[in-house]
Amino acid sequence: MTQVDFSEVAHGSDRLRLALDAAQLITDDLGAPDQTFFKLSDDQGLIGFVGLQGAGPDRLLRSLVVLPGRRGHGYGRILVKRLEAVAAGSAQRLHLLTTGPASLFRALAYVEGDRSKAPADIAATAQFSSLCGPKATYLVKDIG
Ligand SMILES: CC(C)(COP(=O)(O)OP(=O)(O)OC[C@H]1O[C@@H](n2cnc3c(N)ncnc32)[C@H](O)[C@@H]1OP(=O)(O)O)[C@@H](O)C(=O)NCCC(=O)NCCS
Repeated sequence: MTQVDFSEVAHGSDRLRLALDAAQLITDDLGAPDQTFFKLSDDQGLIGFVGLQGAGPDRLLRSLVVLPGRRGHGYGRILVKRLEAVAAGSAQRLHLLTTGPASLFRALAYVEGDRSKAPADIAATAQFSSLCGPKATYLVKDIG
């Protein structure tokens, strides 16, 4: 694996929207002021994205995507770990809802939470209200 760069990306990035659309992840709510997105890239180009949403001790990890041609090389794990490092300075917990592979997050010490007990600002996000099917898994990690 070559050296990777993890850096903030504009909300309005076309590549972010395209990557999320292609992975069937939510894009309708992109652009809120409390969202920050990051991209991972290397000398071969863009690898993927991940986002952080909210303020205060509880934040939403969202929009994790690795471009199809770059999957299966540990980059999803790197994106999550880099995001955790960014959030650790100001947040206590990361929350996420996924219909994707929960095993990736469980291996990084995310544990299943009770959706009915999610903090109000997390439960109010579009991610939570739109990913409401029984197949979505709610996971939480204490990073404080
Ligand atoms: C999910 C996703 C980000 C994983 O990216 P990746 O770079 O391939 O993941 P990694 O290589 O870092 O894999 C980390 C672990 O998760 C596991 N994993 C990754 N994708 C998986 C999948 N589709 N099904 C089951 N396990 C998977 C890997 O086996 C690996 O475990 P290991 O270390 O024990 O081998 C990527 O497949 C993707 O962008 N999918 C579409 C969007 C999505 O579902 N996002 C997650 C919801 S927010």
